[in-house]
Amino acid sequence: MTKYQAPKGVSEYFPPRSNIFEFVRDRLIAPAKTAGYSPIELPVFEDTELFKRGVGESTDVVSKEMYTFEDRGGRSITLRPEGTAGVMRSVIENNLDRGQLPIKLFYVGPFFRAEKPQAGRYRQFYQVGIEAIGYNDPEIDAEVIWVADTAFKSLGLSKYQLQLTSLGDSASRAAHRVELVRFLEKLSLDPESKKRAQLNPLRLFDDKSPVMIAAMQEAPLLINYLSKESQANFDKVKSILGDLDINFTINPKMVRGLDYYTGTTFEFVHPMLGAQSGIGGGGRYDGLMNQLGGQDLSGIGFGIGIDRVIMACEAENSLDDLLPKLDLFIVPIGESAKSYAFKLLNELRKIGVKADLSYGDRGLKGGMKAADKSDARYALVIGDDEVSSGLGQLKLMSTGESKSSTLTPSAIAKLIEI
Ligand code: HAM
Repeated sequence: MTKYQAPKGVSEYFPPRSNIFEFVRDRLIAPAKTAGYSPIELPVFEDTELFKRGVGESTDVVSKEMYTFEDRGGRSITLRPEGTAGVMRSVIENNLDRGQLPIKLFYVGPFFRAEKPQAGRYRQFYQVGIEAIGYNDPEIDAEVIWVADTAFKSLGLSKYQLQLTSLGDSASRAAHRVELVRFLEKLSLDPESKKRAQLNPLRLFDDKSPVMIAAMQEAPLLINYLSKESQANFDKVKSILGDLDINFTINPKMVRGLDYYTGTTFEFVHPMLGAQSGIGGGGRYDGLMNQLGGQDLSGIGFGIGIDRVIMACEAENSLDDLLPKLDLFIVPIGESAKSYAFKLLNELRKIGVKADLSYGDRGLKGGMKAADKSDARYALVIGDDEVSSGLGQLKLMSTGESKSSTLTPSAIAKLIEI
């Protein structure tokens, strides 16, 4: 055992898998940029109160999973368990809500939840998220879902499913709450569930214990209590998603793990990931900004778990033809070949050829082994003959086929199709 080890349950990326991480992260961000979202960089820690108020005390995230500590000034600080509350805090504090609406933001980075670690569930994990704040507009709901769906498709994923529901407006939830509380009164709940039911009775739909799942089988569903406006809004969202060719199923029991959701709510699940199947999720939040001391503006967004998306890509084997490779690996043999090769390498890089060199005078065998390991598309051996003739053989690594080329940057770039 090594002397120092990473804390339990954190996700860590190093080569070669860190290349996959970077590629997946960038592809997840790309459609948000296409749709006009701007980056926002936020602190990874905030006042504990922000998450208590924003995410909700009835949630597992707040009641059991926060990394909370006292800083040197005696303030209660929490490592961010999610991104939406921090975005909202920044929007209010920096008056972004006084400018052009909607405010469209994306973020990426580490998040922290003190969960029981298992495959796909980490204590430090990574999310790409977006938030569109300002209007409650079905077209924006569809746009947010389109961004996530497009991102998944751009990674070659095809087996995920989009689950959709509406948690309605406050009138819908009030009407449903009466019936749900009446239903829950008839059940014999354990003290903890009773406490949760008092804080937010919807939480009980999220209980994963078989006893509670069975008990909630006949519970009244919020989707059947939608107000006229909420129903019309949800119908419009569904119809636009149809126009955009985005498939979905309705899951009327979905409540999500955070308390701020209202209206359109969704989750992307991947059936090949076992228990931690949620690769991304989000929804609308009508009251959040107001609750955190800002104007009464609605917003909608999602968080996508980069770690789980990578697992989904690996399960579907979807990245094999997508991951960018090094174009060329040069193997110099001997001192004069090395300085010739190094010069050529830098000229190639200047014109955009992704190239590397076998450093360390490893000879032909060691050099070709390094070329193999680098996963470059082509390898080029340069010895005294190549230096004097200015000609070389470019080996296509996938087939072993050799192609002759003048050793000028433009000729090489042309031959390897850059
Ligand atoms: P969330 O569903 O709690 O939503 O998290 C979003 C995604 O983060 C999940 O679908 C999952 O892929 C990933 N994730 C969550 N916890 C873990 C974990 N312990 N290990 C690995 N991956 C994890 C939110 O965080 C909301 N802020 C999303 C949102 C934005 N809603 C509106 N705007």
